[in-house]
Amino acid sequence: MADAYVPGLEGVPVTESKISFIDGKKGILEYRGVPIQVLAEKSTFEETAYLLLWGKFPARGELEQFDQELRSHRRVKYGILDLIKCLPNTSHPMDILQACVAALGTYYSARDVADKEENHRSVIRLIAKLPTIVAAFERIRRGDEPVRPRDDLSHSANFLWMLTEREPDPLAVRIMDVCLVLHAEHTMNASTFGGLVTASTLANPYSVASSAVGVLSGPLHGGANEEVVIMLREIGSVEKVRPYIEELIRAKTRIMGVGHRVYKVKDPRAPILQRLAEQLFSQKGESPLYRIASEVERVVVEHLGAKGIYPNVDFYSGIVYDKLGIPLDQFTPIFAISRVAGWMAHWLEQMERNRLFRPEEIYTGEHDLPYIPLERR
Ligand code: CMC
Repeated sequence: MADAYVPGLEGVPVTESKISFIDGKKGILEYRGVPIQVLAEKSTFEETAYLLLWGKFPARGELEQFDQELRSHRRVKYGILDLIKCLPNTSHPMDILQACVAALGTYYSARDVADKEENHRSVIRLIAKLPTIVAAFERIRRGDEPVRPRDDLSHSANFLWMLTEREPDPLAVRIMDVCLVLHAEHTMNASTFGGLVTASTLANPYSVASSAVGVLSGPLHGGANEEVVIMLREIGSVEKVRPYIEELIRAKTRIMGVGHRVYKVKDPRAPILQRLAEQLFSQKGESPLYRIASEVERVVVEHLGAKGIYPNVDFYSGIVYDKLGIPLDQFTPIFAISRVAGWMAHWLEQMERNRLFRPEEIYTGEHDLPYIPLERR
């Protein structure tokens, strides 16, 4: 047994994996050996998900079949929609998503995780149905009926359709698709680890995914994109950035959307999101939040760059979603509908050579204490 306690497991490998790679000093991210910039420019979410899951680019027929499977599994049982209707419409959408993903498991008998065909179906169902759940909650909480998924649309286009019931704009679809590609996988992050701990008990894949959704929901992980937009709105103008950020630094308060456990340079996904944001603003009008964000980046890097604190993926993604008209609390669920591809890739990999995660702790309590009767305490 190793006796050195490593807080936050920083630098401790918990598995071997061929799925993705990060060089935090050089700002490199690759999925299955392919640089993220290449995938963002040339691929689609469907193709990237296939690459992550099965380790190779699909041939045309394989991609068509995978895409068709996803399209035909988008609908959710009415019990899932009823469950959403029964839960408070003031809930955070991540809490709804976690509950519904767990509830999906009540409909599908996926308890035998050695059954490769069933595992394939579970992966397809999870990737196909998460957007439907997220969009359904958005509709239901506004008092509208959920919009039925369409199988003539791509993954991203269908998601935007289900959110708005409007024919999606091609630029919005492309931008949403690139966002899904960028968020689909990121080595051994907290939610993937959370999912794998559940997976290591041979729990069913719906429990694996719902554990991961719960882990993703926190502000130190996926929840940061929402916090960034809250912060930018609170700052309100470019002139107020410097005093606001310098006060946070003085008070040692965390600045959301910056800093990363692995990247000590700017997250390679952040400039891609910046370019998307600029493309969007040139077509749909400028966003005051973007100018504030650029100034926040400048001040943060000036003060904290030497410590390796630069914008991470969450810094610019919220601004893009905001401009697409997506409500603030739906930013992290969008992260989840993308990251489920990475979670499932890791789950499949783990099932090939599973070992139960059962770490140790260093006990710092007392020993051999007497029982004191209640009246003498
Ligand atoms: N703002 C100000 N200072 C920071 C920040 C920040 N966001 N992040 C790290 N630091 C400082 C921290 O105070 C510490 O300074 P010192 O050594 O003087 O005490 C030093 O940097 C190291 O901090 P740490 O807490 O040991 O670093 P960590 O690896 O545990 O932190 C992190 C990683 C992501 C939790 C952290 O950077 C953070 O809280 N960032 C803000 C939340 C955020 O944007 N999360 C999204 C992460 S990327 C997407 C995802 O994974 O979901």
